[in-house]
Amino acid sequence: MRTNVLAEGIFWVGAVDWDVRDFHGYSTMEGTTYNSFLIIDEKITLLDTVKRTHMQDLLDRVREIIDPAKIDYLVVNHVELDHAGALDEVMEIMKPEKLICSPMGKNAILSHFHREDWPFEVVKSGDEISLGKRTLQFLETRMLHWPDSMFTLAKEDGILFSSDAFGQHISTSERFDDEVSLSHVMDQAAKYYANILYLYSPLIQKLLAKVAELNLDIKMVAPDHGVIWRTHFDKILQAYDDWSKYKGGQKALVIYETMWNSTEKMAKAIASGIEKEGVYADLINLKVHHRSDVMTKVLSSRALILGCPTLNNGLLPRMAGFLMYMRGLKPQNKLAAAFGSYGWSGESVKLMNEAMTDMKLNVIEDGRRTKYVPAHDDLAECVQMGRRIGQAVKETIEQEG
Ligand code: FEO
Repeated sequence: MRTNVLAEGIFWVGAVDWDVRDFHGYSTMEGTTYNSFLIIDEKITLLDTVKRTHMQDLLDRVREIIDPAKIDYLVVNHVELDHAGALDEVMEIMKPEKLICSPMGKNAILSHFHREDWPFEVVKSGDEISLGKRTLQFLETRMLHWPDSMFTLAKEDGILFSSDAFGQHISTSERFDDEVSLSHVMDQAAKYYANILYLYSPLIQKLLAKVAELNLDIKMVAPDHGVIWRTHFDKILQAYDDWSKYKGGQKALVIYETMWNSTEKMAKAIASGIEKEGVYADLINLKVHHRSDVMTKVLSSRALILGCPTLNNGLLPRMAGFLMYMRGLKPQNKLAAAFGSYGWSGESVKLMNEAMTDMKLNVIEDGRRTKYVPAHDDLAECVQMGRRIGQAVKETIEQEG
């Protein structure tokens, strides 16, 4: 039976966005949810709001429970506009007594809405506010993933409202992790991590240590996107620990773009060499795979082998764009190599090697170039290159134990 109740007096009142397919360059082929939570206590409190396009859904859900004008406190855990886009209209309707946010949250709200007259209540890590029977405790999570981000814990209920952390872009009428396929949710959580949080992995390690040190009694984790973790929080917590430690997987990824199929032939030969060493190799043609799906594979890979021909002394545009995107997300602890065909100048391999070296990936080959179309001998060399990469993958797996 469907329910939006997290605990007695705590309700999900968010919105499901079934249609969104792009989130500033991240493909959201399953839509998303904007989660918002209502706590009924002596001080009626709303935690986070929704994207402006979905404000009516939020108000309708609140009205099923209470008149929105009766809300006393509004907590803004994160100011990005998918959660605070309608804040000006929401403030006008609800007129809360307190608008609770982090110090950086106040700065961000002022920079977005320019309303010094709003009733800001600035909270720092460790601060608490009583709602009556319940207490809210706050934990700033700066740069996870904006400066303003914070967590709010409903202490007596053990519910952590975690903003974007532990989220997944899934549109679903189910609200909890035990109502949907766990493997599917974990795949979407991995995609979220790879495309939003990967670059902040060192900060996530510190945050996980801080949460462990605080010894918080957490029974449920409610992110601002996707399903609420009430049964499998241990699994997503373990995954965040692994991902933020840059734990390598078992696979090599051969990621390529091709012009007249020469680089594709090289890609297939290199992948076959890797597989001859007993290592899985995924072939990823950037023409058909979205960059955000490729990043999800990068998260759990051990080696990145990039292939691209030379165009106008540079790279083909999809590979150039993917490299720029991946550079920002800062993957670490990966073996790397490059290859590509060329006609006369042939800079692509050098450019890809330089980019991956700048990213502090472990470039283990000079790279392989082929003039125009690879001959049998060229492809045999590509197979040998793949074998060397496969051996290196096995060695690093053995070293890790
Ligand atoms: Fe879901 Fe950073 O916003």
